[in-house]
Amino acid sequence: MQFELWIAQKESGPAPADPTIPLIFNGRAAGIQLACTLLVMRIQPNSQFAGEPMAAGSAPTAIELSEASVTFGRGARAVPALSTTTLRIADDEFVALVGPSGCGKSTILRLVSGLARPTTGVVIVGGREVAARAMRVGMAFQNPTMLPWMTIEKNIMLPLKIVEPFRSQFRRLRKTEFRDKANALLEQVGLKGFGGRYPWQLSGGMLQRANLCRALIHEPRMLLLDEPFGALDQFTREELWGILQALWMTHKPTVLLVTHDLREAGFLASRICVMSARPGRILDDSRVDFARPRTVAMTFEPDFVALNQKLRAFIVDARTAAREGA
Ligand SMILES: Nc1ncnc2c1ncn2[C@@H]1O[C@H](COP(=O)(O)OP(=O)(O)OP(=O)(O)O)[C@@H](O)[C@H]1O
Ligand SMILES: [Mg+2]
Repeated sequence: MQFELWIAQKESGPAPADPTIPLIFNGRAAGIQLACTLLVMRIQPNSQFAGEPMAAGSAPTAIELSEASVTFGRGARAVPALSTTTLRIADDEFVALVGPSGCGKSTILRLVSGLARPTTGVVIVGGREVAARAMRVGMAFQNPTMLPWMTIEKNIMLPLKIVEPFRSQFRRLRKTEFRDKANALLEQVGLKGFGGRYPWQLSGGMLQRANLCRALIHEPRMLLLDEPFGALDQFTREELWGILQALWMTHKPTVLLVTHDLREAGFLASRICVMSARPGRILDDSRVDFARPRTVAMTFEPDFVALNQKLRAFIVDARTAAREGA
């Protein structure tokens, strides 16, 4: 079985000029469902993306899809996944993508991370076209992708082993500090004491929580989250919304969150984009101006419910249109 593993740097190897190198990993253990992709973004606490000039007072553009479309395969087997889409996301925005299953949400995340290329159009991240190589971002995939031979703690610390400035400090200076950081995150997501376990010893929901810790540990400037809370019970999910909101309010990373949960989108996002059925396009792009910090109680207030209903109507219409068109 062959898995493609994009990893920034072999643990013991010399540092290449570009630390993002593709590594093909031949996994022999039958039955391991691992399509492990780890993309890591440098922490740039004070940096601004070198996006195109913006109007005074507005944040620079972090992500731009310009007339981008994606078709997988060719000829009779071609699958149009994403219609021509234009989307601009500012540096300090938290954008949620919602839409029917199969409409191209994960495809957009893959375009932004550089894992997929647009069939037409361009994708610009941090002012540069995403083309030949993967971008370094904090990413939590739809399926938690933990390395089965490493403990949860080591999996979570992996970005710190890979990304400068943490990498050079890992062995000598700050290993204890990094371990404490991983364990503090584990505690925050309700996994205190599980750092020494292996991924196969955790439940699906626990793995998703650990997956989120790994995406957050290096405090990336950009977070791409693909249904990160999908397998969690409602209460844990709501708890994690609070944690993610606090993190966003403190560090203001650019976040692109894919979710099927409209309450989640309304709680977390500053903008919600609703997509049509496959091949997806953006049907509605709404600002969410509820005051922060938002609370779970707010999600039951009339304004919030009205927003939910509006989004829901778009998705119901999109599903109906897709059924009638099929
Ligand atoms: N590598 C691929 N080859 C062929 N088709 C693909 C590939 N990846 C995705 N697709 C197709 O593209 C479409 C969009 O897929 P995508 O994963 O982006 O959907 P999604 O909106 O994330 O769905 P879900 O909500 O179910 O996760 C789907 O119909 C899927 O079957
Ligand atoms: Mg998806």
